[in-house]
Amino acid sequence: MLHPVPHQYEREELIVELRGVTCGYDGPPVLENVSLAVNRGDFVGMLGPSGSGKTTLLRAILGAVDLLEGEIRVEGRSIADGRPSIGYVPQIETIDWNFPVTVEQVVMMGLTSASWPFPWHRRRDRERAEEIMERLGIVHLGRRHIRDLSGGQRQRAFLARALVSSPRLLLLDEPTMGVDIKTRDEVMHLLDELNHQDVTIVMTTHQINAVAAHLPWVVCMNGGIVAEGPPSEVFTPETLKLTYDADLHVTQYEGMTLVAETPHFFGRNGRGNGPGHEGAA
Ligand SMILES: Nc1ncnc2c1ncn2[C@@H]1O[C@H](COP(=O)(O)OP(=O)(O)O)[C@@H](O)[C@H]1O
Ligand SMILES: [Mg+2]
Repeated sequence: MLHPVPHQYEREELIVELRGVTCGYDGPPVLENVSLAVNRGDFVGMLGPSGSGKTTLLRAILGAVDLLEGEIRVEGRSIADGRPSIGYVPQIETIDWNFPVTVEQVVMMGLTSASWPFPWHRRRDRERAEEIMERLGIVHLGRRHIRDLSGGQRQRAFLARALVSSPRLLLLDEPTMGVDIKTRDEVMHLLDELNHQDVTIVMTTHQINAVAAHLPWVVCMNGGIVAEGPPSEVFTPETLKLTYDADLHVTQYEGMTLVAETPHFFGRNGRGNGPGHEGAA
């Protein structure tokens, strides 16, 4: 299980700050008037339905989305003044898997974008890449094509790419999507370990109970920020309705606040788990 208590530093130090940010693409803004503060050592989960602007928010912090209004500062500097060192793990579905690239090359991309994919990287860079691949358990996959990997192995390869430059801030877009339960827990434990080693983490997720409920701080989004705080405070039927436009219930389990969907019974030949089947032997 993850530690629900965030790693605390002696004084609060703002790592990411959004002030009144309105941004989007062509057309109406995706995010409107978003203000958010992430302190050093935070481990933040961003929740919200598809299209609610989670990816756009992460990309805005990276400086990859034009701001219509407001300001974004990373480690105290406006991102308009230059790109800070941030580790980024993109949403896996947005990657073109036919692009012929090996795991090793993916990881090296995180270091020397200018010289990639040439083989004469500095030795220290190669050693660092090996070290991080070793740590993530993918060192034996170095020569394999990225498209031939399992979901969990791909996720690790992109995590390695993000970590190879030793960033102090890590942004991850649905890092536990499409992987099995064991891999998901391994990824989350790894992130927890990094968080305890002074890496500030912001991740998006659709997995409310399996992931978000274990985090110290969650932000609910729907075109803007609906609510933020510890899951025990944020997970209320009212907030979840505003976030997902769905009726959800909240339950307590071993000190954790979990979210349950309204029960539905699907399928024509019910086998005893729906209304009207109570008497079935
Ligand atoms: N590159 C893009 N160009 C135009 N519109 C985009 C682009 N990326 C996302 N959008 C739109 O922005 C909105 C928010 O998308 P996104 O940030 O990906 O949401 P989420 O990650 O929460 O699913 C959606 O309506 C989506 O269609
Ligand atoms: Mg997204």
